[in-house]
Amino acid sequence: MLNIWTMLSINPEPIILQILPKAHSWPVPAYAGVCGRLEVVAYEGEPISSLTHIEWRRKLKIVKKILDAAMDFTFKHDRFRFYLMDWSLDNIVANEKDEISFVDLEDVIILDKHISPRKDLPDWYQRYNRELIGPGFTFSIENMCKHHLSDHNLWAACYIIGGEDNPLLYPIPKSINASRPYLDKLLIECLNSDDRFKTLAKIQHYISDMLMDDKLFGSATVR
Ligand SMILES: Nc1ncnc2c1ncn2[C@@H]1O[C@H](COP(=O)(O)OP(=O)(O)O)[C@@H](O)[C@H]1O
Ligand SMILES: [Mg+2]
Repeated sequence: MLNIWTMLSINPEPIILQILPKAHSWPVPAYAGVCGRLEVVAYEGEPISSLTHIEWRRKLKIVKKILDAAMDFTFKHDRFRFYLMDWSLDNIVANEKDEISFVDLEDVIILDKHISPRKDLPDWYQRYNRELIGPGFTFSIENMCKHHLSDHNLWAACYIIGGEDNPLLYPIPKSINASRPYLDKLLIECLNSDDRFKTLAKIQHYISDMLMDDKLFGSATVR
């Protein structure tokens, strides 16, 4: 108990890495152990923020995995949802196989899907869509915790991919935008519309389709 209390007080990341282990395909670093303030995890690659120079197709591949992860953190665990508070391209690393890991899990809201809401949570069974409460990367933890499901991870994933602050996927190469114009439209919809769950599923399909289309990228390197 002292060990758990220490982790909860100093940094809950080791707890998260054990609830969502890499061995069960969660996109997180392999966990080795913790002692006080020291945590040992595997090196899982370079931060995506430093991969601006890579081929655009690789970026697209990584983006697909980021979107899949946003859905998994929201839906995949039987009991809990994990809303990541520190979504940024610095906090996601990629290895040479383009496998991604979320490395900064100090700040995560864990929501229990199985609670029986009392009177203080009248809107629990309604979905919570992010409200526009300010420019840039802003959100309300209080509001997302009053609902059994929030689109926080989905919005945040779309924000780092296509939002205002050095988005991973932009600029979209002209030749690609000409033959696949809906990628841009869907990303804008994900950032601004209200049914992000539907839009995100569409983006996942659209990107899978693009990645399978060898002709789209040609033999030339598209950056
Ligand atoms: N497991 C890892 N594999 C590779 N790089 C990592 C790993 N963990 C952290 N890093 C690198 O170190 C940086 C800082 O780590 P992070 O956990 O995000 O700490 P901070 O809370 O200071 O942001 C990350 O942006 C990433 O570049
Ligand atoms: Mg960080």
